Amino acid sequence: MAKTKSVFVCSSCGAKYYRWQGICSECGEAGTISETLVDTSPNAGAKVAARALSGFAGATGSGICSLATVDLTKRPRISSGFTEFDRVLGGGIVSGSVVLIGGNPGAGKSTLLLQTVGRLCLNHKVLYVTGEESLQQVALRANRLKIQANNIRIAAETSIDTICEMASKESPEVLIVDSIQVMHVTGIESAPGSVSQVREGAAALTQFAKRTGIAVFMVGHVTKDGTLAGPKILEHCVDCSVILEAGTDMRYRTLSCQKNRFGAVNEIGVFAMTDTGLKEVKNPSAIFLNRQETVAPGSLAMVTWEGTRPLLVELQALVDLSLYSNPRRLSLGTDQNRLSMLLSVLHRHAEFALADQDVFVNVVGGVKVEDTSSDVPLALALISSYRDKPVDKGTIAFGEIGLTGEIRPVPYGQERISEAVKQGFVRIIVPFDNAPRTRNPDVEVIPVKRVTDLFNLV
Ligand code: TYD
Ligand code: MG
Repeated sequence: MAKTKSVFVCSSCGAKYYRWQGICSECGEAGTISETLVDTSPNAGAKVAARALSGFAGATGSGICSLATVDLTKRPRISSGFTEFDRVLGGGIVSGSVVLIGGNPGAGKSTLLLQTVGRLCLNHKVLYVTGEESLQQVALRANRLKIQANNIRIAAETSIDTICEMASKESPEVLIVDSIQVMHVTGIESAPGSVSQVREGAAALTQFAKRTGIAVFMVGHVTKDGTLAGPKILEHCVDCSVILEAGTDMRYRTLSCQKNRFGAVNEIGVFAMTDTGLKEVKNPSAIFLNRQETVAPGSLAMVTWEGTRPLLVELQALVDLSLYSNPRRLSLGTDQNRLSMLLSVLHRHAEFALADQDVFVNVVGGVKVEDTSSDVPLALALISSYRDKPVDKGTIAFGEIGLTGEIRPVPYGQERISEAVKQGFVRIIVPFDNAPRTRNPDVEVIPVKRVTDLFNLV
């Protein structure tokens, strides 16, 4: 029987008191002190030490064997019920894996997991452990999300040891822990959410997952200033770390993978937050692309690179006769200086003079394009607007333009082309060095070497 003692701990600096007080005398923060129970049984420290010694994978001590003899029989993946979520995880949930779901408070982590549980529980045994919300709150949310609650097994608990005990008895296929920041481990005296608690808690859960084959999902908050234990310190011990975040448009949430031991990390999942929870957006680039029947002059789709993934956005340019002696150059969503540079390159190397024209550029949907691959589509949009001639339907472009008028390759050319093909584009204008060596009969890839080549494409 574990002996416990109650102490009052400041969540900001970790100072301990024997009595509650309003203001922490160590760090001066108000209202940060709360009561915590700590295990004072004599072997509590030994338990922690044993846990630390056995390593994250929990499967050390295998002896030496040949790598070729390791059993490779494939364990089937469990579908989360969301195709977008499965894709980010590399094709579904792997049994015995540990997935960390990070994100700012309010990003929708609990919502996503509850909906996932709602879908999973139809065919699989799932245990949902809530440490942040009461059972009533979860039940209310499930009600609002119209989730069938009969099959869902749930517990409100904040002790990792009790959770592991409960899960061993219940033996679910998937265990969800919301969130790792409020959990505590027996024998660690610091406050829940502190670095040592979070790290030990995650290590204990990881070991538990590897030993039992139960897939574990942990929620981790990214704090505003990043001083509290954020998912960063956990990333090395989990198998897969995904981040749920709200983009510029608050209605949409993107789920991206930072690390994945069972799949690629360049997959993203996009969800729309509605009044009945998260809905999958099957075609994320469609949010930023305008698929009209007719194509207007001055408008062109481009492939930009956002963090770890390609994103398709629409670029628009307007070239109009200026009424002023000093024509206007304005760009929203792209670099204004790059626009001036591009206009000079087009003038000097292709005799495309816009000295008497106002030039406006806009990226649709409020997206900020920061990589240099917007040069080629921007030049094409300018030519198209000036000539009042639309670019062919189904055309997309990317590429950088150098000061000598050459078209330079950009990173991830192949990934950009694949994404464009996936989104149904049939004519892709790419830098010569980015052109793939193998031919895809369904798409026309047009490699370009110099800015002068662009004038034949509009
Ligand atoms: P939540 O899952 O509680 O966030 P997290 O666990 O990441 O902190 O999501 C909270 C936000 O989601 C909140 O701002 C309201 C919004 N929301 C909806 O818009 N519709 C819904 O149906 C639900 C459940 C939440
Ligand atoms: Mg939550």
